[in-house]
Amino acid sequence: MLTGHLDDEEAKRGPPDRRPRIDPQRDRARLSVLAEVSTLLASSDDHVTILTKLTELAVPLLGDWCSVHVVSAKGELQRIAVRQAPNATVPEDELVLRIAARVFSRGTSDWIERIVSVPLNIRGRVTGVLTLCRGETGEAYDHEDIAFAEELARRVAMYVDNAMLLREVQLREAALRNEAIRLETLNRIGQELAAIHDLDEVVKRVCDAATTLTGAEIGLYFTYADGEAKYAVCGATFDEAEAIAKRRGELTSTSPAFALQRALRMDDVRRAAAATNLGVLSHVTRIRSYLAVPVRGRSGDVIGGIALGHSRASAFDIRAEQLVLGLASLTATATDSARLFREARELITALEKSNHDLDQFAYVTSHDLRAPLRGIANLGGWIEEDLGEKLSDKSREYLHLLRGRVRRLEDLIQGVLDYSRAGRVSDAPTGVNVHALVHEVVELIAPPAGVMIEIDPSLPTLSTTRVPLQQVFMNLVGNALKYNPNAQRRVQVGAEPVRDGWEFFVRDDGPGIAKRYHEQIWGLFQTLHSRDRIESTGMGLAIVRKIVEAHGGRAWIDSEEGKGATFRFTWPKDPPRSRSWDRHMRKR
Ligand SMILES: Nc1ncnc2c1ncn2[C@@H]1O[C@H](COP(=O)(O)OP(=O)(O)OP(=O)(O)O)[C@@H](O)[C@H]1O
Ligand SMILES: [Mg+2]
Repeated sequence: MLTGHLDDEEAKRGPPDRRPRIDPQRDRARLSVLAEVSTLLASSDDHVTILTKLTELAVPLLGDWCSVHVVSAKGELQRIAVRQAPNATVPEDELVLRIAARVFSRGTSDWIERIVSVPLNIRGRVTGVLTLCRGETGEAYDHEDIAFAEELARRVAMYVDNAMLLREVQLREAALRNEAIRLETLNRIGQELAAIHDLDEVVKRVCDAATTLTGAEIGLYFTYADGEAKYAVCGATFDEAEAIAKRRGELTSTSPAFALQRALRMDDVRRAAAATNLGVLSHVTRIRSYLAVPVRGRSGDVIGGIALGHSRASAFDIRAEQLVLGLASLTATATDSARLFREARELITALEKSNHDLDQFAYVTSHDLRAPLRGIANLGGWIEEDLGEKLSDKSREYLHLLRGRVRRLEDLIQGVLDYSRAGRVSDAPTGVNVHALVHEVVELIAPPAGVMIEIDPSLPTLSTTRVPLQQVFMNLVGNALKYNPNAQRRVQVGAEPVRDGWEFFVRDDGPGIAKRYHEQIWGLFQTLHSRDRIESTGMGLAIVRKIVEAHGGRAWIDSEEGKGATFRFTWPKDPPRSRSWDRHMRKR
């Protein structure tokens, strides 16, 4: 194994003495050192301690000085341990390094003067170098010394190899652990973000999360859509925040983040030509490392960006970049959802306001219309009284018609009022026995003789508001009787359970309704007959539908002309929450 040497140094070194020397005492000592080394290498101490102790065992037995170099992950030789005997001559660092480097590259032992270097060889791979040195006064190394050093190096190599494998496994484990933590953190942040519906809050949380996850010193998240920018800054000093705020006008669709196709990571912005991409962070002078990631919305368009900075160069690695990319996709969903939520909320508020205004309008106008109507009715009465016998039969009939029209108009106004009030889910729900409720409705209507009303005994008991349900049945059963001209009439009321509640029906054997009118009849003031023939306002079904829909159900008709009609509506199990405008109206 003892081969190779530096040609120019050949003159300086004498060849090792190959003559075997009989020295039982020295051999015993060496055997005992080998045994101790084996025990040492099997110990659980850390890498550096073990190799340091090894050099202590080698000195002074094998030399006055001993060092161990091990190859680093980057492939460089690093001195891990060194030991020297008291008053020993210390070899020049440069010389030791030269020999060690040569032994490392060739994989064979070498020596110069009183220095011997042996490779840590394992499975054809050199993982380090063991170097020994004897002072001027000591003996020159002989063949047996080198053979012993090589034996020692073999054991150390095995240990170093194991240690390297272990380190690799540990590194991989740590990487996996980090990956798991990363995914767990992202998952947690995703869940947190999904629960937030407020856009400002989403923007703030994203900024916090990006800054914390990457260890950035300063973070910025901004989103821009529909001409409106929202942004949050973390970790900025007061002055920096002020400066960013001054330039927030730049956070628009022309911002550098919008030009980013993918992540932009700069180890040192002072050296990077693309530093202009920093956008509003460009004037935060302490920034050296920079990481920016575009945030894309559902449609794939860039809707904002996350920008991070650090005063240390190379502060963001590929993992930080991946982390922020993961966060960016969560952010996109959360930002989109928060925006949609806000739009929906604005629409609901606008709708509630318009409903409220309409209700107010209906209430006020109906009220105000009633007073003059009453006046007209009274005037009619007074004219009749004043003229008395002088009134012609024709005029008397006209006055009678006038009072009839006034009554009709009053009914219409009442219908408008009822409609505006219909569907207010304001009362607290109670247990309502629908079977008993329909019986009461029939009693209130007091149907004439010749009418058969069949009420399904299995009608359920529901937790709901009583009055609206009663109104619905009043209208439907009332219509079933009112529009059936036959002397013998039959009405059936029943129900069957559906997915979220019940489907009720009111069936009659009357004239039925042609398909083309199936939608029209639910409109305001819609009647299919002359009002002079049947006095009605055409509001009943509109009120029915409004009530049913306010309770989360729907109402429709199954009918054919001449074959009777079945009116159906669903009524959910769980009553809906009361609405803000209901509360408002009740104050009146
Ligand atoms: N069971 C039915 N059979 C036949 N036609 C019906 C039936 N129910 C309603 N209609 C027709 O539908 C129209 C609208 O009914 P709706 O209950 O909305 O108003 P209305 O009964 O005319 O007036 P109101 O109920 O306000 O007194 C009725 O005018 C009638 O022509
Ligand atoms: Mg009706």
